[in-house]
Amino acid sequence: MPTAIVVHGGCGRVEENSLAERRAGVRQAAERGWEILRAGGSALDAAEAAVVVLEDLPLFNAGRGSALTRDGRIEMDAAIMDGATRRAGAVACVSRVANPIRLARRVMEASPHVMLCAAGAEEFAAQQGIPACDWRDLVVAERRSQWEREHGTVGAVALDAGGGLAAATSTGGTSGKLPGRIGDTPIIGAGTYADRATAVSCTGTGESILRMTLARLAALWRERLGDAQAAAERALAELAAEVGGEAGLILVDRDGRLAIAHNTPHMPVCAIHAGGIEVRS
Ligand code: GLY
Repeated sequence: MPTAIVVHGGCGRVEENSLAERRAGVRQAAERGWEILRAGGSALDAAEAAVVVLEDLPLFNAGRGSALTRDGRIEMDAAIMDGATRRAGAVACVSRVANPIRLARRVMEASPHVMLCAAGAEEFAAQQGIPACDWRDLVVAERRSQWEREHGTVGAVALDAGGGLAAATSTGGTSGKLPGRIGDTPIIGAGTYADRATAVSCTGTGESILRMTLARLAALWRERLGDAQAAAERALAELAAEVGGEAGLILVDRDGRLAIAHNTPHMPVCAIHAGGIEVRS
């Protein structure tokens, strides 16, 4: 069986002098996931581990380094989905957890729910033994100016040797958002989706991606067209035509075919599979 992992660091337009560091970040994340796949680990473990790497790197808009709300706070969203079982877990508007993707996985595995938000999610984190952090420790000083034109979000999709697919996505959301705003990332089928045939993680204007259920749309086009890249591009073209907005997505299917598509100048991506490693900006 083929195995593969693709990781993105968010679409947008960023300073040229930050591109090399972003490429290095997505590569580090993809290599972490690839180690897990090579050791016989699951797509779910690989996707989660890759996203944790990016949440910990302050250059990316997730976990430490998240975008700030209009009132200068941090509210993060994340989701994970296991394609084989269609189990999913998501968290929204969490501030006191350093790695929201880990909490999303706990929601999936240790609660009867798919999504928890805000104080309830943080209470659940404490019950699960996930240490609380001070949201101020996640703020990166240059965040306010540096990331104005950039959508951020990080994500990973993976295929394991048993044919299992998984998708994981995490974000600080959009810069200057209203407190309480929830984007596409934690909504299953919008920013994150996996089934037995396809796994997708999206980035971009959440308000557009939500209205197109972009991840599910790309999976549907992959089924219809039988071509991963054509499906990703078709879904993005529909988004542009129907609601407008900037977006990008990564996709892997059960045959190990990958797709990378975005309508913004930049989207750092690293893909690793048996054929080698590819890193782009
Ligand atoms: N795509 C991430 C967000 O809009 O929150």
